[in-house]
Amino acid sequence: MGKSYPTVSEEYQKAVEKCKRKLRGIIAFKNCAPIALRIAWHSAGTYDVHTKTGGPFGTMRHAEELAHGSNNGLHIAAGLLEPIKEQFPIISYADFYQLAGVVAVEVTGGPDVPFHPGREDKPAPPPAGRLPDASKGSDHLRDIFYRMGLNDKEIVVLSGGHTLGSCHKDRSGFEGPWTSNPLIFDNSYFTELLTGEKEGLLQLPTDKVLAEDPAFRPYVEKYAADEDAFFADYAEAHMKLSELGFADA
Ligand code: HEM
Repeated sequence: MGKSYPTVSEEYQKAVEKCKRKLRGIIAFKNCAPIALRIAWHSAGTYDVHTKTGGPFGTMRHAEELAHGSNNGLHIAAGLLEPIKEQFPIISYADFYQLAGVVAVEVTGGPDVPFHPGREDKPAPPPAGRLPDASKGSDHLRDIFYRMGLNDKEIVVLSGGHTLGSCHKDRSGFEGPWTSNPLIFDNSYFTELLTGEKEGLLQLPTDKVLAEDPAFRPYVEKYAADEDAFFADYAEAHMKLSELGFADA
C-alpha cells in the first residue's frame, strides 16, 4: 500500500516544528512520556482496515472517547498536552497527538520515528471496544492487530512500547512497571520477558504470550539480543501505526 502524503503549507510545517520543541519541553518537565505514547497509540489503534473507520484522526479530544473503558486515565494526557495544543490552533488534533507519541519515544532515548503532517480531524469517535484486552491471549491480539492491518512482527515490536511507563490499579486494574527504568526507551521490555517474572515488575497476559507463541517468540529473542534491530523495526511500525488510514494512495 503506497502512501501519498498531502502537502501542508509552510506555515503549518513551521508550526509542527515549533510544536515539537514545545512537546519536548512539557514531556520532559512533566515526565509524561509514557502516557503521551499511550494516548497516541490508543488514538491510532482503533483503526479498522476493512471499514476504514477509526484511527489517528484526533477523535480522542472528545470526552466520549476518553470515557471508553480502555482509555481510563488518558484524560490526564489530554489535559497535560492541551496547553501546548492551544498555542498551535493551526495544527489538527490528529497530527498533534501523533506528534506527542513520536516525541515521547525520542525524548526517552528511543529511535526517531518519521512524522508526516496533514491528518485531518474526524468529527466523531469510533465505537468503544476496538483496543486490546490485556487479560486475553494471542488469538485476541491477532484479531485486534490484524483488524488494524498490522502483522505478527508489528504486534511484538509495538508491544515494546511497554518499555515505558506502568500500569495503574485505578486505571486498568493492573499495577506496576514492565522494567526497572520506565522512563527510558530501550530493549529492556524484551530482556525482562525472557527473564520471566520478577519481584516489583509486571507482565500482562498479553505480554507473556509474546514469549510463548511460536510465531511471536523469535521476534522477542531478536529484540532482546539486538537493541538496534528493535529500534529500526519499532520506528517503522510506530510510523505505520501513526498513519493507519492516512495518506493511503
Ligand atoms: C499489545 C496489546 C496491548 C495491551 C493489551 C496493552 C495494555 C496496557 C495496559 C493494561 C496498560 C496499563 C494502563 C494503566 O493502568 O495505566 C498499558 C499501558 C501502557 N501501554 Fe499498552 N497495551 C498494548 C499495546 C501497547 C502499544 C502498541 C503501545 C505503544 C506502542 C503501548 C504503550 C503503553 C504505554 C507507554 C503504557 C504506560 C502508560 C503509563 O505509564 O501511564 N501499549 N497498556
